[in-house]
Amino acid sequence: ASRILAASMSTVTEVKKITVIGSGLMGAGVVQVAAQSGYHVNMVDLKEDFLAKGEKIITSSLKRVAKKKYADDAAGSQKFIDDVMSRITLSTNSEKAAAESQLVIEAIVENLKTKQALFKALDAAAPQETIFVSNTSSLPIGDIASATSRLDRFAGLHFFNPVPQMKLVEIIRTAETSEDVFHTLATVTKKMGKVPVACKDTPGFIVNRLLVPYMMESLRLVERGDASMQDVDVAMKLGAGYPMGPFELMDYVGLDTIKFITEGWYKSGKGLVGDKLIAPSPLLERLVAEGNFGRKSGKGFYSYE
Ligand code: CAA
Ligand code: NAD
Repeated sequence: ASRILAASMSTVTEVKKITVIGSGLMGAGVVQVAAQSGYHVNMVDLKEDFLAKGEKIITSSLKRVAKKKYADDAAGSQKFIDDVMSRITLSTNSEKAAAESQLVIEAIVENLKTKQALFKALDAAAPQETIFVSNTSSLPIGDIASATSRLDRFAGLHFFNPVPQMKLVEIIRTAETSEDVFHTLATVTKKMGKVPVACKDTPGFIVNRLLVPYMMESLRLVERGDASMQDVDVAMKLGAGYPMGPFELMDYVGLDTIKFITEGWYKSGKGLVGDKLIAPSPLLERLVAEGNFGRKSGKGFYSYE
C-alpha cells in the first residue's frame, strides 16, 4: 500500500527548457527530438565548430522527417524545419545554459572524470530544483552523481542511436533518485514520443547488458572460424529478424565504443569483473588499433568509403 501511496503522491516538475550538453551524434539527436516535441533547448558544446556540426546533423535529419511529413509541400516542409530550429539556442557556456533549465541532459565523451568535472561545475551554477541526467552507455550513474550535491535529482536517461528513430529510452534510478524525478523523466520522455522503461543502476542497464555480450559472442564465433562475418549478419537479420547483423551494428555504434565499454566492465563492472562474456576480442582489438572504428571512420568490419 505504501508503494501505491508514494506513486499517487508524486509530483511532476514542469520542464520548459532543457539543456543538452554535447552536440555529437547522441546530443544532436536528443536536441532534435526535444525541440520537435515543443521544448526550448540549449545545445551546448566546447567550440562553435562542434556546435555547427551538431546543427548540421539536426538539419539533415529534419529534412528526412519533413520529406515524409510534407511530401510535395515545400513551404510546409521549410516552415516545419524553421519552427523546430527556432526553439534551439546554441551555446558554449554550459553553466549559464544549465542555470536557466529545469532539466540538463549530458551527452559528452564517455569518460567518468570528465563527466564528474562537468556536473560539479553545473551543480554550483544551476538552481537546486534542476534535474541532472546522463546519457552514459556504460558508466555507473551513482559514480557520476557523486560529483554533485543533488543525488535525489540525478538519474540516467539513456537514448539509442539513431535517436530520432529509436523509440526506447531507459530511465536509470540510483538508490537515491526520487520518485518525483522518475515521474518527471517519464513524462518528458513520453512527450518526446518515446517509450520509457525503468532499470536499476547496473552495468549496461537493459539493452547494452544483453546487446554487448551478443556482439562479443558474434566476434568469438568468427574468430573460431565457425562462420563468416557476412553469414553471421545475414543469419541474424533473416533468422532472428534483427534490422542489422551484429557486425553491421558494431560498425554503426563504433568499434572504439564497444572496446571501451567491455574493457570498463571487465575491470570494474558490478558483477562482471573478469567475466568471459566480455573478455577482450583479438579481432576487435586489431581493428581499433588500426584506427578502423566503423562507419564514423569510413571503415570497420565493412568499408563505407
Ligand atoms: N533521422 C531521421 N529519420 C531517419 C534517420 C535519422 N537519423 N535515420 C533513419 N531515418 C528514417 C528514414 O528516413 C526512413 O524513413 P522511411 O522508412 O519512412 O522512408 C527510416 O528511418 C528507415 O531508414 P533507412 O531506410 O535509411 O534504413 P533502415 O530501414 O535500414 O533503418 C535503422 C535504419 C533505423 C538504423 C535500422 O537499421 C535499425 O534499427 N538498426 C539497429 C539500430 C540499433 O540497434 N540501435 C541501437 C544501438 S545500441 C545504442 O544506441 C546504445 C548504446 O549505448 C551504444
Ligand atoms: P560524440 O563524440 O559524437 O559527441 C560528444 C560531444 O561532446 C562532442 O561534440 C564533444 O565536443 C562534446 N564534449 C566533450 N566534452 C565536453 C564538455 N566538457 N562540455 C561540452 N561538450 C563536450 O559522442 P556520442 O556518440 O554522441 O556519445 C555521447 C554519450 O552518449 C556518451 O556517454 C556515450 O556513451 C553515450 N551513448 C552513445 C551511443 C552511441 O551509439 N554512440 C548510444 C547511447 C549512448
